Amino acid sequence: MIICSCANINDRKVKNALSSGARTLSDVQAELGVAMGCGSCRDAVQDEISKFYGSAGNTPRAYNGDLAPTA
Ligand code: FES
Repeated sequence: MIICSCANINDRKVKNALSSGARTLSDVQAELGVAMGCGSCRDAVQDEISKFYGSAGNTPRAYNGDLAPTA
């Protein structure tokens, strides 16, 4: 599913960035260039980050998808 149509970035690429250590919207922006055009994808990117790390804080937890972090 396309997350950022401006940068042509899908959810898999966002999950890969998170699996590689990106932790914040700024990290994902720097790595993939998302949310740097129209900005309409910011909430969707933040949702992916929240799903990946959980909504209670910054403690990484297993993602329920197919790209679980190895740490
Ligand atoms: S859809 Fe991501 S910046 Fe426009």
